[in-house]
Amino acid sequence: PSDTGRVLSIQSHTVHGYVGNKSAVFPLQLLGYDVDSINSVQFSNHTGYPTFKGHVLNGQQLCYLIEGLSANNLLYYTHLLTGYIGSVSFLETVLQVVERLRVVNPGLLYVCDPVMGDEGKLYVSPDLVSVYREKVVPVASMLTPNHFEIELLTGLRITSESDGLKACNMLHAAGPSKVVITSLIIKEKVFLIGSHQKVKGQSPQQFKIVIPKIPAYFTGCGDLMTALLLGWSNKYPDNLEKASELAVSNLQAVLQRTLADYTAAGFDPQSSSLEIRLVQSQDDIRNPEIKLKAESY
Ligand code: ATP
Ligand code: PLP
Ligand code: MG
Ligand code: NA
Ligand code: MG
Repeated sequence: PSDTGRVLSIQSHTVHGYVGNKSAVFPLQLLGYDVDSINSVQFSNHTGYPTFKGHVLNGQQLCYLIEGLSANNLLYYTHLLTGYIGSVSFLETVLQVVERLRVVNPGLLYVCDPVMGDEGKLYVSPDLVSVYREKVVPVASMLTPNHFEIELLTGLRITSESDGLKACNMLHAAGPSKVVITSLIIKEKVFLIGSHQKVKGQSPQQFKIVIPKIPAYFTGCGDLMTALLLGWSNKYPDNLEKASELAVSNLQAVLQRTLADYTAAGFDPQSSSLEIRLVQSQDDIRNPEIKLKAESY
């Protein structure tokens, strides 16, 4: 085992561009992690383009890969990371994978981005919602929902910071000790809200980071964010505030560079969703300058 960690990342792969594993694997490697990746889909490009082609891995095919690893005693991981999952059968298989990995390493941390939708719109089949709520939340170690997703997971309507904190408390009671709402929109301001329940049953440490909104739409940000939160929170296991400051600072650097490069090339950054400048931002990922500070509640 490496000194930092071994991550199994089950996410989308796109031939062109950066979403899913393409936005998660490289930054984790930069932070020193060994990352084994399973591609849950292989698409030509992300689904925001006019068209895409490709293939979807099904639950049985995921099992088959896990069998191969198991037959060679290769199922030792410190972390499992999952993002967008397209079907109930694939999500059920992921739950079996969590169990198997915890037989090999009872301390395995499961970092789950419960990707279901954004801005009030569901972009997965509605029957995934109850599986996330009832089966995934209880076994997750860290969850990184956005505003809409934490509403789906808790059934709460969130219109204030204190609603957000209450929703985090509900999720702690159901399982994960770390919850990061990666973007909460309150009165047109964007917040990240973090919550770390260090001892089961006790009140969590909670904080916010105000995120300056960049006027453009980027894809792959949520996937990058969850990977960075895994990477930094494992380096600072008792300091989710610091881990979040580092991850948000990474994101800001990547997005500012992306915006600058597209603008310099004569593109209108508001007209289409932008592919992030990930490779070009590697120094900023390794050594972020913390510009945005967390504020404790
Ligand atoms: P997911 O859809 O994967 O569940 P999400 O909706 O929270 O997660 P994003 O809204 O893309 O994903 O946000 C992830 C992070 O990316 C935010 O915490 C923020 O730091 C950054 N981010 C994304 N878009 C912008 C933007 N336009 N301006 C500033 N920061 C942004
Ligand atoms: N996976 C695929 C195949 C996609 O097409 C997309 C977005 O279009 C994503 C994942 C998620 O991107 P984001 O991190 O912006 O939510
Ligand atoms: Mg979003
Ligand atoms: Na998220
Ligand atoms: Mg996403």
